[in-house]
Amino acid sequence: MSKIISLAKRRGFIFPSSEIYGGFGSGYDFGPLGAEMKNNIKKVWWDEIIKNHQNMVGLDAAILMSPRVWQASGHLTAGFADELVECKGCHKRFKKDELKQKVCPECGGKLTEPRNFNLMMKTSVGPVEEEATTAYLRAETCQGIYVNFENILNSMRLKIPFGVAQIGKSFRNEITPKDFIFRTREFEQMEMQWFCRPKEAIKYFDFWKKERVKWYLSLGIKKENLRIKEVPVKERAHYAKQQIDIEYKFPFGWKEIEGVHNRGDFDLSNHSKYSEKDLRYFDEETKEKYFPYIIETSGGADRSFLAFICDAYQEIKGGRTKTTEAVKEVEILLKLDKRIAPIKVAVLPLVRNKPELVKKAKEVYQLLKPHFICQYDELGSIGRRYRRQDEIGTIFCLTVDFESLKQEDLTIRDRDTMKQKRVKIKNLVEILKEKINVSKNNS
Ligand code: GAP
Repeated sequence: MSKIISLAKRRGFIFPSSEIYGGFGSGYDFGPLGAEMKNNIKKVWWDEIIKNHQNMVGLDAAILMSPRVWQASGHLTAGFADELVECKGCHKRFKKDELKQKVCPECGGKLTEPRNFNLMMKTSVGPVEEEATTAYLRAETCQGIYVNFENILNSMRLKIPFGVAQIGKSFRNEITPKDFIFRTREFEQMEMQWFCRPKEAIKYFDFWKKERVKWYLSLGIKKENLRIKEVPVKERAHYAKQQIDIEYKFPFGWKEIEGVHNRGDFDLSNHSKYSEKDLRYFDEETKEKYFPYIIETSGGADRSFLAFICDAYQEIKGGRTKTTEAVKEVEILLKLDKRIAPIKVAVLPLVRNKPELVKKAKEVYQLLKPHFICQYDELGSIGRRYRRQDEIGTIFCLTVDFESLKQEDLTIRDRDTMKQKRVKIKNLVEILKEKINVSKNNS
């Protein structure tokens, strides 16, 4: 894991938050490449959910909502709390279910009896800091969908079954944030809520479970690194009638990256009760009024980011490039799916001390820039520059050489095969669009 953390920082994917002040609460910032890659993941998720399914709409609800939302949802009670123990000696705090021993793992001191620690993050809204102004940062994005159920239904004239998708930040006051960006206090969720007839809930639970596994595999996650955990009743979230976790085999073990839940009518019936608004649905077909059941797919953008980067990371002993200069001991290749790779194309003049090559390469870079996220790089030998791009997962390297000046063409090198082909500069945008499939996935 330490190699991935080091690459992430060195190459501008992820930085520790507020680093110049010594970091802050295990928070992280996504650097220039990380921001591109995370946006790509979110875009591919959004496109898959919204474009590939019937009756699916999107939402972008507020992070701060009425505190009554969280009373109704059950998040202010023991259902959304972890058991916390504290060391009587060094006062470090731990999640009880993560401790293997009965004493403090840091100093061997005695531990307090466990107590419930609620994970909701409090803030206050308005200029007066008193009880009446207490609000909470949302702990899951889906509550914004439930409280807008009627608005969405009426404004979009939807009939069940239908779904609502949302991407956004969530916050949990985790006792022990850990494993890099795996468990943090501020994170991003990609959630979809499918409203259906109660008798069809099991069918749709199964459908969405398969869809979500397919999504990870389609983006290159290796089959052997993905599994489904059927969550037993006593481990399920307080709202879940049925629950599976999609787990990824991280370097620190098998861990959940997404949950699929059958939430039954838990949320709509509770919001009806607390708001005193009838949120039942009138089914024109059956002439019945009932609370639809909700099937939820709930993935973490940060956790899937980490899974994608871990899965793509390869170290090649002795290097792949045997023909160029000194062979490196270990070469790093980030074999990211082309849709999520942050940089699609790098433009490289063969050498930088020939102004005509540099000029031509810069022209090519300007030609491509409006169409693709690309980099221009002239520093170091061409072999070293290829390796620098392989390390960040750049899909194609374009090299402008002396032939290019005569023939108005260049070589295009494929990251995975390292094969090179000459193409005409005038056809470049079209060729690259086709290869990267921009029009299909990023339109
Ligand atoms: N709405 C349901 C829900 O929030 P969850 O299993 O608590 O379910 C769903 O969270 C997903 O959100 C997880 O699978 C994970 O990807 C992400 N997630 C949850 N807590 C997180 C944390 N502290 N840090 C990073 N991601 C987190």
